[in-house]
Formats: sequence, C-alpha cells, structure tokens
Amino acid sequence: MTPTTDAHSPSVEFSPTLPQIVGVLGGGRMGAGIAHAFLMAGCTVTVVERDLDALGGAHVRVHAAVQKSAEKLRTSPPAQEPAANAAHAADAAHAAMARLRLSTDYVHLAPCALVVEAVPEVVELKTKALLEAERHLDAAAVLATNTSSLSVTDLARNLARPENFLGLHFFNPVPASLLVEIVAGLRTSPALASAATGWVAALGKTAVSVQDSPGFASSRLGVALALEAMRMLEDGVAGAQDIDNAMVLGYRHQTGPLRTTDLVGLDVRLEIADYLARTLGPRFDPPQILRDKVARGELGRKSGKGFFDWDPPPAATPAATLHPRQPHEGPRP
Ligand SMILES: NC(=O)c1ccc[n+]([C@@H]2O[C@H](COP(=O)([O-])OP(=O)(O)OC[C@H]3O[C@@H](n4cnc5c(N)ncnc54)[C@H](O)[C@@H]3O)[C@@H](O)[C@H]2O)c1
Repeated sequence: MTPTTDAHSPSVEFSPTLPQIVGVLGGGRMGAGIAHAFLMAGCTVTVVERDLDALGGAHVRVHAAVQKSAEKLRTSPPAQEPAANAAHAADAAHAAMARLRLSTDYVHLAPCALVVEAVPEVVELKTKALLEAERHLDAAAVLATNTSSLSVTDLARNLARPENFLGLHFFNPVPASLLVEIVAGLRTSPALASAATGWVAALGKTAVSVQDSPGFASSRLGVALALEAMRMLEDGVAGAQDIDNAMVLGYRHQTGPLRTTDLVGLDVRLEIADYLARTLGPRFDPPQILRDKVARGELGRKSGKGFFDWDPPPAATPAATLHPRQPHEGPRP
C-alpha cells in the first residue's frame, strides 16, 4: 500500500489482506452477524459485550448463524458424496466456533488488528466504547464503526489515532447481505479506506465507498423510503402488506420498506430518523406511528411484533453457564 502523506497522520501502511485477529464490540443483531462473517472467513474473533446476560445472547446468535452456514454447506450440491459434505460442514462449524472468544472485558481486544464497534446507535455510548477499545489496541490496529448514520468524523474526534478509524457499515442480516459501505471520515487515512475494500472482498461482499455524510448513501435512501411508507400507512392509503408489495412486485425490491424496518428494528430506525431530521432537515421527521410503536415495545422481529407479526426470538443461553474468559481459552460449549 502507498503510505499516506496526510498532514494529520504519520505514514501508515495498511494491507488489503484480511486481518486475522478481529474484535467486535457488541454482539447484538449486527455484531453477531459481523462476528460470523469474520469467523467464516477464517479469522479469530473476540466479541466483547457489556454484561454476562448480553454475552449469552451474543453466543446464541453467533452459534445460530454458524449452524445455518454449516447447514447450507451440508445441503449444497455435493462436491464428492453427501457424507463428505456433511463431515465438511460439521468440521467448518466446529472450527469457526473454536475461533470465537467471548468476554465482558475490553482488555481482551489487545491482540486484535481490527475492531468493529457495533453497540447501539447512541453517540455517547459509541464514543465511550471506541475510546475504551483504542486504549487497549496497538498503534497499528484499525478501529471501525458499524454506525448506520452517525458522523464518522465526529466519532473520531477524541480518538488518539483518527487516521486508523473508518466506517464499515454492514447490512442486516449480515450473512445474506452482500454490501458493506466503507465510510471515510475527514481524518481517515485514504490508504486505510482503500485497504478495507480488500477486506470486504475477502468476506465475500462488495464495498461501496462513500464520504462521511449523514446517513451515508444507504441509510439516507432506505430511511426516506421507509418513512414515506409509514406515512402512507398512517394516512390509510393501504395496508402494510400492500405497501410492501408495491415495492417488491412493482420495483423488484427484495423486501418491502416496512418489513425491512421490522428486520432492522423500529427503535434503530427511529434513532436514525431523528438524527437525519436534525442534520438534513424535517423531511426525515419520524411519523407518529413509528414513535407510538417504539413506545409500545413493538420493535419488529426482535420483539415479535412491528409492522408485521413475527415468531418469538430464540431464548438466550442462561447467563450462569457463561463466564468472561481469556482469549486463549478453547471453544465455549
Ligand atoms: N439493526 C440493523 O439493521 C443495523 C444495520 C446496520 C447497522 N446497524 C448499526 O449497528 C449498530 C448495532 O445495531 P444492532 O441492531 O446490532 O443493535 P443491538 O441492540 O441488537 O445490539 C447492540 C449490542 O451492543 C451491546 N452493548 C451495549 N453497550 C455496550 C458496550 N458498552 N460494550 C459492548 N457492548 C455493548 C448490547 O448489549 C447489544 O447486544 C448500531 O450502530 C446500528 O445503527 C444496525
């Protein structure tokens, strides 16, 4: 890689080869998916959560995603015989879970070459988590945020090494989504943004590169469509399924804007809309129906109800069976 000559940053080289030791802050919906993506690409991944209960949930989510990948491998057209496929799938799942580390202590991020932050979309929370992570990392390590909408430049403000920080915006659900937005803040090293396209390719996904701007490309457009769909529902123009069908069948969207909102989480979308309204103007003001549903706890798939009804989410592993552990320990049962 060409060394950067940015006045703010020392010369730093970034390799397009995928970092092999990776940390993920927050093992919720996105963090678990991101952890799964790196595990399946052969990396060792440490997921750090805020407490043992949350750690149990993270473990369940990562394990379920790995099992789903293994099942896909098992049922894919056999390279040799079905039995060989099954053995290969079981081995791959076992190997991936053996590379997973779980902790509630940021100190276990120390060996990571890359840490992806995926804590809730609350600026104070993210700033604190990023600062705490950076404290434990090597000077050459890269920090990334999975923020959907917050300013990467602002999140970098208090970091000691803002040139080593960028946005890696994965999409939900991570295993099925082929897109990652690479967001360069004002002080992100151009060499880092360029190297990250190689990492995204190594995860089997495609990168789009955007400059830091509210909502980037994807959230700004996606939220605009979803808010209009909610206003139409509120105005009684059509039912949720019909509004979604108009986009799915009429415009070949894979999922309608209301179902997508259920998958993203209504609370997450409300936070993003509030932020976009503050930064880009009142066209992003969240409709009352969104505020009401969030206030009632109708958060979409994760709560069993949003604009549609969903099966209840899987139960978390009882916290008592999980303990923070050292990164060098073996697989968690
Ligand atoms: N849900 C989506 O569709 C989606 C898509 C793209 C990006 N994002 C972004 O990804 C981020 C996470 O979203 P999510 O949907 O996974 O949220 P989530 O609520 O499912 O997960 C957040 C996790 O962070 C953990 N956490 C909270 N504080 C922490 C701390 N200090 N240290 C470590 N872990 C902590 C929580 O326990 C929780 O498990 C947000 O920035 C969101 O905007 C979400």
